[in-house]
Amino acid sequence: MNRTKAIYPGTFDPITNGHLSIIKRGLKIFDNLTIAILNNPQKSPFFPIDERICMIKKSIKDMSNLEIDTFDGLLVDYAIQKKSNVIIRGLRALSDFEYEFQMSLMNRKLNREVQSIFLMTDYKWFYTSSTIIKEAAGLGGDVSGLVPEVVNRKLKKIYAESKNA
Ligand code: PNS
Repeated sequence: MNRTKAIYPGTFDPITNGHLSIIKRGLKIFDNLTIAILNNPQKSPFFPIDERICMIKKSIKDMSNLEIDTFDGLLVDYAIQKKSNVIIRGLRALSDFEYEFQMSLMNRKLNREVQSIFLMTDYKWFYTSSTIIKEAAGLGGDVSGLVPEVVNRKLKKIYAESKNA
């Protein structure tokens, strides 16, 4: 088992500055981080998987020791397949706790070798999420500063196009 490597899983629909904050913190603890994007079309993501990958790639272009990958099925199985037994998750406000607690207990039931580690997001991103950012952008709100510039541009373009359609 490679103890220097952790998995940072999520939907990343799209990546936000909150995610980037967790990635940077994760890299202070682990030598390598795999950003593992859930590829489950049944969950009807807003951005297709290739666009999510592309936005992440551009957002982390100045960072090293990162791998981007996709997964489907059980996260613990994916972690073992990647020879890692650490899952990193970000915690924001209290509302995250119940969901994360449930998920980590289920993951531990499924495989006791895989450990979940929680890192606090920078306070600046405590109340943001991909969902609320998409909602605000969809209503014409300015979400710059909450997401990487590549995501901001993409959201603006999509919503401008849908307005003109
Ligand atoms: O960014 P998200 O949507 O909060 O990420 C959730 C994710 C992808 C980490 C979670 O849905 C997941 O691990 N899915 C894989 C399926 C799985 O392993 N389920 C059992 C444990 S809950």
